Amino acid sequence: MTRPGTEVGPYLEARPMVVANWKMNLDSHGATALARMVAEDSACAGSVQVLLAPSFPYLEKVAACLRSSPVGLAAQDLHWKDSGPFTGAVSGAMLVDVGATHVLVGHSERRRLFGEDDQDVRQKMRAAHAAGLVPLLCVGEDKEERDAGRAVEVVSAQICSALEDGFQQSVPVVAYEPVWAIGTTRAAEPKQVADMHGEIRRLLKGGIQILYGGSVTPENTSALMSDPEVDGLLVGTASLHAKPFLAIVRAVVGVSS
Ligand code: PGA
Repeated sequence: MTRPGTEVGPYLEARPMVVANWKMNLDSHGATALARMVAEDSACAGSVQVLLAPSFPYLEKVAACLRSSPVGLAAQDLHWKDSGPFTGAVSGAMLVDVGATHVLVGHSERRRLFGEDDQDVRQKMRAAHAAGLVPLLCVGEDKEERDAGRAVEVVSAQICSALEDGFQQSVPVVAYEPVWAIGTTRAAEPKQVADMHGEIRRLLKGGIQILYGGSVTPENTSALMSDPEVDGLLVGTASLHAKPFLAIVRAVVGVSS
């Protein structure tokens, strides 16, 4: 299937992408066991780019499990400075040092629960770019904003603000994650997703990969992926066990082959 917007851009991938966002879950044993199962599964070997995003303490161990496999490593967050007196923070350079190639920026949980504002997100985009990491810029409206008919306006404003520094070139991947669909059992409707992805692609004039996130399951993957506007998925809850996560990857392979 030809997917729009996969023709240009410095880090741009032609393959659909499936990212496992483990959030603050799994211990050392759980993370490495799951990483090995994903790395060894043939579904992750070819037509889909699979990335795992473990929590900071396990990045290096998970990187070791993924070595010599096509599965990549992403971090869940970064600080905007390279080093210095920022207790508890982790820099882009550190993430690269332990083997990460991608990083989530501006996830709604960071924005809502940790008070990250547009300026933080913008600085993190700049830091990811400077460190040589591919940022996965997360955007999405909440329920009130959608009900008020402001979803496109909110998402566009988040993207424009994140890219104000002119780092558009370094944003090949945007993850549209409506806040009201995250961690629920109710994903957005495929049409709602395709419409928003179309708006984002128009705003950024193509050259971009757009993922959907929010209650993705093996059951809804094919419907979500069947629209060419959807270039991949960001998966939370269903990525914490091999069976549903690999079923999602297989469904993406099925749709895109
Ligand atoms: P969910 O999380 O799949 O559990 O809804 C997605 C995310 O927050 O990235």
